[in-house]
Amino acid sequence: MLASKRILLIIGGGIAAYKSLDLIRRLKGLGAEVTPVLTRAAEEFVTPLSVAALAGAPVHRDLFDLTTEAEMGHIQLSRSADLIVVAPATADLMAKMAQGHANDLASTLLLATDTPVLIAPAMNVRMWEHPATQRNIAQLKSDGIRFVGPDAGEMACGEFGAGRMAEVPDILMAAETYFEAGVLQGKRIIVTSGPTHEPIDPVRYIANRSSGAQGTAIAAALAALGAEVVFVTGPADVPPPPHVEVVRVETAAQMKEAVESALPADAAVFAAAVADWRVASASASKIKKKDGALPVLEFSENPDILAGVSQMAQGRPKLVVGFAAETDDVVAHATAKRERKGCDWIVANDVRPETGIMGGSENAVVLISGDGAESWPRMGKGAVAEKLAARIAEALVQ
Ligand code: C5P
Repeated sequence: MLASKRILLIIGGGIAAYKSLDLIRRLKGLGAEVTPVLTRAAEEFVTPLSVAALAGAPVHRDLFDLTTEAEMGHIQLSRSADLIVVAPATADLMAKMAQGHANDLASTLLLATDTPVLIAPAMNVRMWEHPATQRNIAQLKSDGIRFVGPDAGEMACGEFGAGRMAEVPDILMAAETYFEAGVLQGKRIIVTSGPTHEPIDPVRYIANRSSGAQGTAIAAALAALGAEVVFVTGPADVPPPPHVEVVRVETAAQMKEAVESALPADAAVFAAAVADWRVASASASKIKKKDGALPVLEFSENPDILAGVSQMAQGRPKLVVGFAAETDDVVAHATAKRERKGCDWIVANDVRPETGIMGGSENAVVLISGDGAESWPRMGKGAVAEKLAARIAEALVQ
């Protein structure tokens, strides 16, 4: 999988840099071509000579290196790889990436590149947990940077916790997974996400507690497998993922229209928490408070987007996946919902407040299909998304 792949390996300045020597050796063993870049600080931990000898290629060290510029400019260097791997990615290097600094060769390459980037962070546990680093992590993830690790364990500084660089086999596996990605290449998938807002008047609306986290993670996981994703999102708390086409909507009616214009598609995943009702005649001007007179809102039913697409006579996506947020008898209700709506799968979750799932970072789901109900263990919403994306890939690519 890594044979003849061109890897630009940026080695940051941390004690874990010693593992990058083994990483080079293993990459070469798998047939990859490695172009190494060392930061100044990295040279304190590994020597350019050993890096060059293992890579069988010259080491790039300086932004203003005349020989390198004459042979290959740094812009070209940043784009000539199939994948950029940063190992170890120090707190400083991650901060530079998140901020878009370009004040040395490594940060300039990372800013100039249009090649996917995989980073293996390594730092002291306090540095990893610091709000500044956590902000940078969130930023880098939303910029589409892939992460491997860090692991938790005993660290070179004697402390214990998260921050150890991922082991070399895990970094290799993450790089391989990147090249395997693409199983959904050429497949178009619509994902709905977030809540809808149904106006009462120009300033007030009816909404629900959906954060959009699960739908966003699903769209990201499908895009990571190479799918062309149309992400139709209501006003969610989390930003849309990178590498998808974003269509922003507010109401259920707008969401339906956006989904219909995104068709035809190979699959559709309806993770949005669509409001069941809208105010029948929303006021065009702000409803004024009047003494002794309470406004009475009349509702009308919103279109059921999932049922509509599931029951299309022509041009129905091959796979239609709905969600069911339930507070009791999860499997029974979700199984009935699958029948009623006519979709292929229902991803059911228990959203009783004590589960902490609604708005939280974890999910425990049951996948209901024609084959029955399959309970997945409780895991992060990202992991649920990856598992679901893999199942969708299996169903679409046979
Ligand atoms: O009927 P219920 O709202 O529980 O069904 C949930 C599923 O139906 C979700 O997949 C949701 O995205 C979808 N849905 C929809 N249009 C609606 C209501 C729900 O697509 N108006």
